[in-house]
Amino acid sequence: MILHCVFCSFRGDTHQTERQAVLTDLSGFTLGLEGVLGFDHGPNADFEGKSPKFTDGFVIRFADRRALAAYADHPTHKALGAKLCDLCEGGADGIMVVDLVCDDVQSGRGPALQVLPDPTSRADQIAQLFKDSFTDSEGAEEGAVIHDLARDLLTTTPKDDLRVFVAEADGTLRGCAIFTRLRFAKDPRTAFLLSPMAVATTSQGQGIGQALIRHALEVLQAEGVDVAVTYGDPRFYGRVGFEPVTTDTVPAPLPLNMPEGWIAQSLTDAPLTPLVGPSLCAPALDRPDIW
Ligand SMILES: CC(C)(COP(=O)(O)OP(=O)(O)OC[C@H]1O[C@@H](n2cnc3c(N)ncnc32)[C@H](O)[C@@H]1OP(=O)(O)O)[C@@H](O)C(=O)NCCC(=O)NCCS
Repeated sequence: MILHCVFCSFRGDTHQTERQAVLTDLSGFTLGLEGVLGFDHGPNADFEGKSPKFTDGFVIRFADRRALAAYADHPTHKALGAKLCDLCEGGADGIMVVDLVCDDVQSGRGPALQVLPDPTSRADQIAQLFKDSFTDSEGAEEGAVIHDLARDLLTTTPKDDLRVFVAEADGTLRGCAIFTRLRFAKDPRTAFLLSPMAVATTSQGQGIGQALIRHALEVLQAEGVDVAVTYGDPRFYGRVGFEPVTTDTVPAPLPLNMPEGWIAQSLTDAPLTPLVGPSLCAPALDRPDIW
């Protein structure tokens, strides 16, 4: 969330009705925009005597930077902004703007994180999230591939081998991490593979991806899972404990095109010692083109 804080130094010769009119218009216009969570305005009581210059102010709560940018670029905002400047000491110099970037996940205002009891029933919705997110980041072709992969994983993986974690807010799916069992034929330890995962494009960069993985790892750990493995960018997954491993330590189920993306972590107190392969992944992942 972004708190867009605007402080105004109204000229002494302006009327209270003029000031109020522009703030009321701004409030009405802003609250009609997508991604605006609130608009509050009022006079500056300056209880600590720190900002006597500013007579009034308003604070807009935006869901994200995209919502703020849409507001800033809107012609109505520009027209009302010009009116506001006309009423302030020195025009635009009489206005101070501060944008506070607030971490919704840390503050507890973020989406609810949960493991789905029946992920198959939501296969279409989840597959669509993957399609949209990967289409935006990697292009339509990759979006279609990951859509089908997610749907296949959710509909063909035996229940006991599938764990699906989602982040949801306001009834909307914001992120999803799919874990499937990775079996090691000659090793008693249990392992789950995270693949794929996605956060809705408009919700990225707010800590949801990392919070979702941390939550998932805690749940898996509590369940007694020994090892988590994934195949992705170590710069991102390294933030949540994954470290590069070789296929000698964690045998891969199929040959890897990007061995540098093969990463894992122990979920127990014991360090990750070599798992004895061969390994076997979920049927939907058992295709060379995605490795
Ligand atoms: C990768 C993804 C899941 C991250 O989710 P998110 O909610 O945006 O992540 P967070 O907000 O927790 O973390 C964001 C941080 O990770 C960084 N990050 C995201 N993807 C990264 C990557 N591939 N490599 C390095 N850093 C990355 C961001 O730059 C950001 O860094 P900052 O905090 O220093 O600004 C999300 O961007 C996404 O769905 N991307 C498209 C699909 C995809 O690539 N999925 C992963 C492969 S299976």
